[in-house]
Amino acid sequence: MISKTTIDAVFDAARVEEVIGDFVQLKKSGSNYKGLSPFTDERTPSFMVSPVKQIWKDFSSGKGGSVVSFLMEHEHFSYPEAIKYLAKKYGIEIEETEQTDEQKQQATERESLYLVSEFAREYFHKTLLKTEAGKAIGLTYFKERGFSDETIKKFDLGYSPNVWDAFTSEAIKKGYQLEFLEKTGLTIVKEEKQFDRFKGRVMFPIKSMSGRTLGFGGRTLTSDKKVAKYLNSPESDIYHKSKVLYGIYEAKQAIAKEDRCYLVEGYTDVIQLHQSGVENVVSSSGTALTPEQIRLINRLTNNITVLFDGDAAGLRASLRGVDLILEQGMNVRICTFPEGEDPDSFARSHSREEIREYITNESRDFIDFKASLLASEAKNDPVKKAETIRDMVVSISKIPDVIKREVYIKECARIMDISEEVLFSSLAQMLQKEQRDAARTSRKEKAQQTMNVVAQEHTPATKIDEQYELEQKIIQLLLLYGSEEEEFEELILEADEDGNIAFQPEQMTAKVFEKVYLDLQEDEIEFANQGFRELYAAIIERLNQQQELAVDQFVNTLPSEKAATVTHILMEEERHRLHNWEGKDIFVKEKKHTISQVVSETILNFRRYLVNRKIEELSEELKELEAEEAKRESLQDVIDYQTLKKLLSEKLNRVL
Ligand code: CTP
Ligand code: MN
Repeated sequence: MISKTTIDAVFDAARVEEVIGDFVQLKKSGSNYKGLSPFTDERTPSFMVSPVKQIWKDFSSGKGGSVVSFLMEHEHFSYPEAIKYLAKKYGIEIEETEQTDEQKQQATERESLYLVSEFAREYFHKTLLKTEAGKAIGLTYFKERGFSDETIKKFDLGYSPNVWDAFTSEAIKKGYQLEFLEKTGLTIVKEEKQFDRFKGRVMFPIKSMSGRTLGFGGRTLTSDKKVAKYLNSPESDIYHKSKVLYGIYEAKQAIAKEDRCYLVEGYTDVIQLHQSGVENVVSSSGTALTPEQIRLINRLTNNITVLFDGDAAGLRASLRGVDLILEQGMNVRICTFPEGEDPDSFARSHSREEIREYITNESRDFIDFKASLLASEAKNDPVKKAETIRDMVVSISKIPDVIKREVYIKECARIMDISEEVLFSSLAQMLQKEQRDAARTSRKEKAQQTMNVVAQEHTPATKIDEQYELEQKIIQLLLLYGSEEEEFEELILEADEDGNIAFQPEQMTAKVFEKVYLDLQEDEIEFANQGFRELYAAIIERLNQQQELAVDQFVNTLPSEKAATVTHILMEEERHRLHNWEGKDIFVKEKKHTISQVVSETILNFRRYLVNRKIEELSEELKELEAEEAKRESLQDVIDYQTLKKLLSEKLNRVL
């Protein structure tokens, strides 16, 4: 784990406007920055960054948060990855917290594997661009394939010298340990001797979503049939081939933006498409698609188009991957290329627009695709036809969404000219079996879900909304003015000289948060919304300890979901201000004056609302009660609450 000290240092150093400025063109607008949303395609800027509060908000997608949450959203980093990215940007050394010796060793071992891989990536890339052999052999090859200098840089392509241990001895000279060279598979150790695994190959580094080098693919340059054309890094602590997708780092932004991912067979397909301007593309590099890989894509989009070679012999086998995608609830389309072409060759000879147009026109829904497969194979063979229909229904049964399933069944019936009833009953059979299996594992989860639904149905929606608004308003006041000292007018019930009970106003000075806390405490009020409840506790705790909130730092201490709530609340206020206050500084001053008023008013409103609800609840209960004794007690409660309500209303009138 990264130490708290490091995380604090990172947050202290990081400037949200600088970090986001690396990804979004920002323009100063008042005390904020504005830009085009990096999450949607928009023409007018609705993306806002507040350097004062150190937060950002994208009004077109609703996203927002701290500098870290931006990196998590935009770069799809995990939390530690985001911290590490910032540490690197701001030159902060990362300190790890206390770990067991075993954890330490594991962490340092993984770190060592990363370091070795990073060194290798650089070494191969430099060798390709800077050495005679690299230029003459590797670079020439890539140029012949049509890769530009820019493309070669973007994908960090490389060359491994055609010498037994060129890489290994250089790495050892630079201080990298043989142990890690062997564990990454870059070096093969045989008895006393060491060999480079990728000797004489052009190199394709395989990166994680966040851009770390995990492993390599190497293509031979000989045409010797006995030599494997492509060689990949073996499995290691950092490289699991079932969990990586070639090109995901370079493609992630485009995939999210286009809301679609193209899936191709190999390295060269990915690179060539990129170079043609089609960037939302990844490859599973020669292996069959796995659920983990699909989930990786699923973090970015729900839509996949599989691009198949024109002469795909094993097309039917590859179709198994399609069922896996359906099973993950994703939408799948399939596009085949003309006879003799693969995405690589097609991209080389066509423009970006032609490629896009081709894929758009030629890609089919999986069901149409399976049908067309049959048409080309054996249209009049009833056995084949039955097999194909069964195959389609199997695919349909994988789709989690009931409505989608039904639509597809109808489509299948239409295309294959068979009755819907038969298909539905066959689907039902398949599903029954699956459900029996699934029921065993998820019975508990389901029970939980039902309970939640029942619990929610209890309170009418409008009431939830009013309470929600009030709770949110209180949070907002705490965030904006929590630490400010204000004059509050407390109304105390006192008997005057004549014995009449009346409100006596009493001035008192308090910080806004103290006032809020004490008032709510008095009625033992708890927020209904769990998020707000937790946030409220966190804000009060922090204000109590530090006497100030420093919203920018505070946001950074929160889990991303809460940070987003805070940002949302603050930015809504900001936007409100932009709209209303431009050129109306009078209003700004006024607002300042009335903080105490607004605070008192909000608390009173909140209390009155809750009392009202309590009265309604009690009156309902009263109707059900039978025993006289209980009835009387309950009635007394209602009367007490009515009195309280009257008091609160009076107070409210005075405040307004
Ligand atoms: N591939 C692989 N392992 C192999 C063969 C191919 O991983 N043994 C993958 C590679 O990622 C490659 C893709 O499949 O990019 C396409 O294969 P192929 O066309 O055979 O590779 P190319 O390098 O394009 O070879 P050629 O120049 O002969 O077309
Ligand atoms: Mn090829």
